[in-house]
Amino acid sequence: MRIDIFTIFPRMFQSPFGESLLGKAQERGLVRINVHDIREYALDKHRQVDDVPFGGGPGMVMKPEPIFKAVLSVYDCSFSDLEKLKKRVRVILLTPRGKRLDQKLVHELANEETLALICGRYEGIDERVREHLCTDSVSVGDYVLSGGEIAAMVLVDCVVRLIPGVVGNQESVSEESFTCGYLEYPQYTRPADYRGWKVPEVLLGGNHQEIKRWRKEQALKITRELRPDLLGEE
Ligand code: ADE
Repeated sequence: MRIDIFTIFPRMFQSPFGESLLGKAQERGLVRINVHDIREYALDKHRQVDDVPFGGGPGMVMKPEPIFKAVLSVYDCSFSDLEKLKKRVRVILLTPRGKRLDQKLVHELANEETLALICGRYEGIDERVREHLCTDSVSVGDYVLSGGEIAAMVLVDCVVRLIPGVVGNQESVSEESFTCGYLEYPQYTRPADYRGWKVPEVLLGGNHQEIKRWRKEQALKITRELRPDLLGEE
């Protein structure tokens, strides 16, 4: 898989993408992540990437030209190729006005060959970017971040860990929260008794059928307690 990120803060991605699972996935060639600085595609001598909003109002709006130029240049195409490009690449705008990211959408995106993520900043981004360049608008939750960068990191992290081979034990991916419609059962490790807080007896017994049944019950219990909406029980 190839992921291109378009941002005016490319350095924000250095450490999160260099470490742990994402770092290893790139080292092993399972994903190629390129971070592109939108400012390098700004046309004027001040490399201006934002401007005042038409109609007035607070803050600045990200200009369309540098963003279109960056994306077209990275994929080596022109305006007349835009529709063809959008069939080949999922061009995703990270915005609080987008479709809420969930594990279903993550699975869908993990099956794509190429993702382009556009990070908005400031008060907003010229609407023509969403209208003519993007195939999707995605939000990571109903709250407002200071920009799309952290949202893009969230999206990349959960998509990349679904690429076959990235997570060593695929079973842990297929059994985790949300994949089966409810939250994951609780896990314990040694010591079996910590300050008098004991690990449930059933897990120490080695009866795999009983353990399976207990885990299913616990998953349902914790989902009912914390996320009844997932069971349609709100
Ligand atoms: N940019 C600002 N807030 C955001 C959010 N919740 N999701 C995606 N991008 C954002």
